[in-house]
Amino acid sequence: MPLNTLATTLSRAEEGGYAVGAFNVSDLNQAVAVLEAARAERSPVIVQAIAGMHPYADEGWWWDRLREVVQSYSDVEVTLHLDHGRSYDDCARAIEHGFTSVMIDASRNAETDEPASYEQNVALTRSVVELAHSRGVSVEGELGTIGGAEAGLSGVVEEIVFADPKQAAEFVDATGVDALAVAVGTSHGSVKFTTDQGGQSLRISLIRDIKDRLPSTYLVLHGSSSIPPEAVVTINRFGGVLPESYGIDTEQKREGIGSGIRKINQGTDSHLTWTAALREFLSGHPTEVEPSVAIGVTMKAMSGIVARRMREFGSTGRVA
Ligand code: 13P
Repeated sequence: MPLNTLATTLSRAEEGGYAVGAFNVSDLNQAVAVLEAARAERSPVIVQAIAGMHPYADEGWWWDRLREVVQSYSDVEVTLHLDHGRSYDDCARAIEHGFTSVMIDASRNAETDEPASYEQNVALTRSVVELAHSRGVSVEGELGTIGGAEAGLSGVVEEIVFADPKQAAEFVDATGVDALAVAVGTSHGSVKFTTDQGGQSLRISLIRDIKDRLPSTYLVLHGSSSIPPEAVVTINRFGGVLPESYGIDTEQKREGIGSGIRKINQGTDSHLTWTAALREFLSGHPTEVEPSVAIGVTMKAMSGIVARRMREFGSTGRVA
């Protein structure tokens, strides 16, 4: 099965009224963990990588191997997506390496890390759309500030600046993006909110308002990890020092899907679960030094949280 574009994957989700999880991976083992979950759940999946966030010396080599691994799961419906491309060059490289979807995050200037103006965002996003669409690749743009910190991208912890529905419609019209990441109350990273906010972080009415104005655009939720308390407790029990933090309530994510969200990004929940499994395993097996055993434990844990999210997002069982 060839890799799907984001537009193909999300048009099916729109039709079926569900969302597809976009799971961040930073090495090949994590990619396999995500793909195994998709196969077991018979779920479409978006495998996504962030430029610069991997342990390999050569990014082009990593992206080629990632594409090969993804393509080897020929029975799984997969989109290979660049998450948070910061420049035209990031997106052009990803397209060269066979990604079928790219995000251009032009909400900040890649060189200065200052917030970009609306006009700068439109100009850069439109140039990426022109290139990507000429190669049959989908594009996701971002408007507003989702907040938090995309680990490894910048040390800046940004405040949420909520998306403006009227500007969102203008942005899509001016750029031609297929999908739009909207700032509707989520926040990136493992430190999100200091209280559970009564499970009401998401502004559901804002999602509805944006969707009403953009019926043909696929809406994307970034920063939507739930921060499983059991993972944080395990990490801290075995030597970690994570602060108490609250993520996005599962029921609210479901409400978001009911209001038009079609792609949900998850990095932190996978990585917390991976880290918790590794810390617990190493602590309980102090004489074990064969890497494959510990790696297998982390992969199984990551597959588990990804599969759980697929069921929550309603994408399980959507592949024949
Ligand atoms: P989390 O940090 O909430 O998992 O969000 C990840 C994300 O949105 C990547 O683009």
